[in-house]
Amino acid sequence: MNEAKIDNPLSADATTPAAVSATGASHSKEGTMRPLPEGAVAIVPVRNVVLFPGLVVPLAVGRERSRAAAQHAARLQAPLGILLQSKPDVDEPGPDDLHWVGTTATVLRYITAPDGSHHAICKGMQRFRVLQFLEGYPFTVARIQLIDEPERTDADVEGRAHALRERATEILQLLPQVPEEMVTALQSVEGSGALADFIAGLMDISAEEKQALLETFDLKARLDKLLGLLSHRIEVLKVSREIDERTKESIGDMNRKHLLREQMRTIQKELGEGEEGGAEIAELDKAITEAKMPEEVDKQARKELKRLERMPEGAGEYSMIRTYLDWLIELPWAAEPEPAIDIAEARRILDEDHYGLDKIKRRILEYLAVRKLNPSGKGAILCFVGPPGVGKTSLGQSIAKATGRKFVRASLGGVHDEAEMRGHRRTYIGALPGNIIQNLRKVGTRNCVMMLDEVDKLGAGGFHGDPASALLEVLDPEQNSTFRDNYLAVPFDLSSVMFICTANVLDTIPGPLRDRMEVIQLPGYTAQEKLQIARRYLVGRQLAATGLKPEQCEIGDDALTAIIGDYTREAGVRNLEREIGKVFRNVAVRIAEGSVQQVKIGPADLAAILGPRQFEAEVAMRSGVPGVATGLAWTPVGGDILFVEAARMPGSGKLILTGQLGEVMKESAQAALSLVKARSAELGIEGEVLEKSDIHVHVPAGATPKDGPSAGVAMFVALASLLTRRAVRSDVAMTGEISLRGLVLPIGGVKEKVLAAMRAGITTVMLPARNRRDLDEIPAEAREKVSFVWVEQVDEALATALSPAAATAAPA
Ligand SMILES: Nc1ncnc2c1ncn2[C@@H]1O[C@H](COP(=O)(O)OP(=O)(O)OP(=O)(O)O)[C@@H](O)[C@H]1O
Ligand SMILES: [Mg+2]
Repeated sequence: MNEAKIDNPLSADATTPAAVSATGASHSKEGTMRPLPEGAVAIVPVRNVVLFPGLVVPLAVGRERSRAAAQHAARLQAPLGILLQSKPDVDEPGPDDLHWVGTTATVLRYITAPDGSHHAICKGMQRFRVLQFLEGYPFTVARIQLIDEPERTDADVEGRAHALRERATEILQLLPQVPEEMVTALQSVEGSGALADFIAGLMDISAEEKQALLETFDLKARLDKLLGLLSHRIEVLKVSREIDERTKESIGDMNRKHLLREQMRTIQKELGEGEEGGAEIAELDKAITEAKMPEEVDKQARKELKRLERMPEGAGEYSMIRTYLDWLIELPWAAEPEPAIDIAEARRILDEDHYGLDKIKRRILEYLAVRKLNPSGKGAILCFVGPPGVGKTSLGQSIAKATGRKFVRASLGGVHDEAEMRGHRRTYIGALPGNIIQNLRKVGTRNCVMMLDEVDKLGAGGFHGDPASALLEVLDPEQNSTFRDNYLAVPFDLSSVMFICTANVLDTIPGPLRDRMEVIQLPGYTAQEKLQIARRYLVGRQLAATGLKPEQCEIGDDALTAIIGDYTREAGVRNLEREIGKVFRNVAVRIAEGSVQQVKIGPADLAAILGPRQFEAEVAMRSGVPGVATGLAWTPVGGDILFVEAARMPGSGKLILTGQLGEVMKESAQAALSLVKARSAELGIEGEVLEKSDIHVHVPAGATPKDGPSAGVAMFVALASLLTRRAVRSDVAMTGEISLRGLVLPIGGVKEKVLAAMRAGITTVMLPARNRRDLDEIPAEAREKVSFVWVEQVDEALATALSPAAATAAPA
């Protein structure tokens, strides 16, 4: 982010030229620097500012030597001497180019602005006179004499001070837009000298005039001079006020502004400045009109424009206001009519872009139909939930296409700070609007589809506010017509934005947010569906990406099936697309080399291009020995198979659990062991075996944390298999929670688990009987290929899972 760095003046900062040694003496980059002698200070020459004691002034320190001086003073907490240049044009002022009377200052802060300029915020302390300039330092150094303010006051002085205070107050009342605090400050300055300095510092007079006041050490004389200046000023103000009032009467308001602007331009021209400035302001003015902002925003924009107009272009605030105005101008304020929704066309586009997903497309069309019939309605927000690569983003893009809207994505993954959604207040340096407004500027229209990706990974609320509650406001049709971004500080109407959320899992989405959303689950594809998607979409897309013509490279269904089965294991099709791309790139190289004209890819060619198969019959390899059962797991990226491994060794009946199992999973292993023990007689396990051995249950992959109760059946089967020395059939996978009475309880994620089993080549899946109701969710292809065994009691599971004959040898 483009943030300014605010240096703590006391911290040792390696980028600054002078570093502090233990004795307080400074060293310059070139070598050791002599410590400043008693009574000497580092000097910063300034071109057009006079610092008075008691006032705080930001000084731009552009020159290398001045920076060194300011940093030196800041570091040692030593006073800094501020001297006005008598010749402002000299770049490296020597003794003859400076006034010899100045003010010592404390550096309150040293700031490096985003544009690289340096500023020292200085507080004036006391007048001084230069006795002698000293040579041989990396910055200007002078021996000085401090000048004390006379303590003595007499009636003469006090009378003058009183008059001065009155006149200054009068002036403030004549000036337009003087903050109330200013008057209070003026009233509360104590001491005649301090009062004189306060007024002198704030007066609108030239630097040389101020210097003259600074050099007037005698208090009475100084007060007289100031009184003279103020009286003159009051006269001027009065006259100009009269003129102002008269003009107001004679010319209409519009004309007057025009006239004044013309006058200002002439004055600026006279001064040789601001011609472009004027043009820039006029341009901004036009742009504000063209942006068709609502009245409140328009007013705000023009107020800021006015501030800009009065500001010198070099001022730090200038660019801040300019940036702010650019944001206001470029946001899509204008209310365009919502594009009409053509349901038939929408159906066509959804079908054109996506294979299958019939139920999902139907729900999307329903959603669009409702929106069409009741555009102002408080329709729910769609939320696509599913593993990576199943088409959530691309469905969103299709919806945009089908409704004639533009598409834009905002990623919410890892957003911890409310300000990332809602922006920072403008008072922060480098502040920007939040990502909602940023994306709106990017698409340039409110009639867009904004996809909020990864709402499930939105950071929890905490120290920096709750991003979820900001999102709630964005999504809530009751509130989002007046969405307030902290940076803009004016309401923005989000009600015509069509929001769609995506997530990998449902349960980490904050509850109130979930309530607002219409959840559409995308569980993942079967191999058959993947083949169709590859055939119809991915192949063509990857051919185009590699620049091959369809006739140059043909890939058979058998090859695609092999890629799906042997080189990818995923719920979506993202890796599939990547592998197809790899194949085509390989072909492209061969064709570009000219070694061939045309290539036909069959399954046999894959090993040479993609390497050895990655998911070869893993199940058969790993199971098939007593003590190993194949379980089914549900993960955010789709279903997966997992192996429960049990081993026995001599010991004293302990249960050892490894594989990063969560509490629930550990308990379910214990329950499984108790169930097996309770059935030892029926299973033909000798009691002695149980007493004299330790049992170890491990669930690879050991580094992945796992939890949940649904591996209960698999654990029971693995233990029973181990102790009866009967292997588990390698084409059987199982899932289900167990109770201590041996009941098999229902579990979630049936569809994902069945698809995962099928991918892994499992032919029989054991499921809790009470999950039978989920059967119609399972794709027809899976129902054909996989046979289901519904179990109510763990004992039934054993009948299906264990191979009938006693196996060869028990594992060690
Ligand atoms: N049913 C489908 N028909 C055609 N193409 C599909 C289908 N499903 C997914 N794809 C394609 O798969 C690719 C990956 O999909 P997409 O980027 O939408 O995934 P995603 O669900 O948004 O994943 P993530 O959670 O990682 O963001 C896209 O190129 C998309 O077009
Ligand atoms: Mg996506």
